[in-house]
Amino acid sequence: MQVLVVGSGGREHALCWKLAQSPQVSKVFVAPGNAGCEAVAERVSIRPTQLDALVDFVHGRGIDLTVVGPEAPLCEGLVDRLQRLGHKVFGPTREAARLEGSKAYAKALARQHNVPGPDFKVFTAARAAYDYLDRNPDFPLVAKADGLAAGKGVRICHSREDANEHIADCFERRRFGEAGERLVFEEFVRGTEASVQVVTDGNTLLVLEPARDYKAAYDGGEGPNTGGMGSYSPAPIERKVMHRIEEKILLPTVHGLAREGHPFCGVLYAGLMLTPTGPRLLEYNVRFGDPETQPTLARLQSDLFELLWRTVEGTLADYQVAWDPRPALTITLTSAGYPGRYETSKPIRGIEAAEEDPDVVVFHAGTERRMGKLVTNGGRVLNVTALGDTLAQAREKAYAAARKIEFEGLVFRTDIGA
Ligand code: GLY
Repeated sequence: MQVLVVGSGGREHALCWKLAQSPQVSKVFVAPGNAGCEAVAERVSIRPTQLDALVDFVHGRGIDLTVVGPEAPLCEGLVDRLQRLGHKVFGPTREAARLEGSKAYAKALARQHNVPGPDFKVFTAARAAYDYLDRNPDFPLVAKADGLAAGKGVRICHSREDANEHIADCFERRRFGEAGERLVFEEFVRGTEASVQVVTDGNTLLVLEPARDYKAAYDGGEGPNTGGMGSYSPAPIERKVMHRIEEKILLPTVHGLAREGHPFCGVLYAGLMLTPTGPRLLEYNVRFGDPETQPTLARLQSDLFELLWRTVEGTLADYQVAWDPRPALTITLTSAGYPGRYETSKPIRGIEAAEEDPDVVVFHAGTERRMGKLVTNGGRVLNVTALGDTLAQAREKAYAAARKIEFEGLVFRTDIGA
């Protein structure tokens, strides 16, 4: 079987790496991928939002399965277009992808199907949002741009001034473009954050082992939000809480979408807050988490191709996945300045030394090869991932490996899994 992975980050390198291990897969392509993917996949120079070119490639090459990594092509309808031509693709249709593409839509669907989540209000104009603030809501208050804003559309507002800023960003400065044409104010919920990913063919739910990610840039959860500074799997969520998440959050969402005529096929990622009164849904993503996928796939013993293929074929019901019982932990090595401005094209050294430990794999997130040399090509550069007998050992191995890698301006958090 020939597989195409769409995307270019650490998640996509991990997907290519795992798919290439499948005896059923003869060839993996990745569009556009990164330098690390070259060891396991052939790169195709098409960006994830070049839908016409992707469709032509899949059609022309007779790709058997397309796996879509990032949300943008899902929200733009890549799956619909490929399916119309009879191609198999892992990921939700444009309508189902609105769960991530519109926070207001996801919240309304959750409310309609009694999924527990924070109270919220949606605004389509600045005046009404300012009026709401005049009524003295409780702070902190979470403000979100409705659409896709590359992780920059969410602000925890500790004061009226913060909330005013977000209103201005959305409606006056139009900092988020179309994504900010609607704004959601949401109750701030306290608890422990967790990410749960479920693979579903629209009928059967196969809940993956829970993971935890670290979004803040600096140790101790300080600093700006990033795309992910590290992660580990499994996150310590009790079995009965996992059942509750499945029963009260995931199932009603998948059934709700099906009843609305938009069955969900792919991976649904629930961002949750575990509170003393039970799990509450904060947001949905409609694709694998990044960097949660990296430790998750490092632990997956089953054939990833088989899992994804069964999902698109609708035959998940009689399938079980097997996990390495050992925990895995991922540290993101970033370029200084990320998530703000940063420099690229810095030579990278030490990956081979880092991978001398057979329990370590270094996934590339933002790398390129220029004149034969491996160089940085993004804010998130590498995802150093290690398995260990315990989380503490996985952490030790991952940090030992990370310290063998060098590039100018290398920065990472030192408290992942601590
Ligand atoms: N780790 C957060 C995300 O994938 O959106």
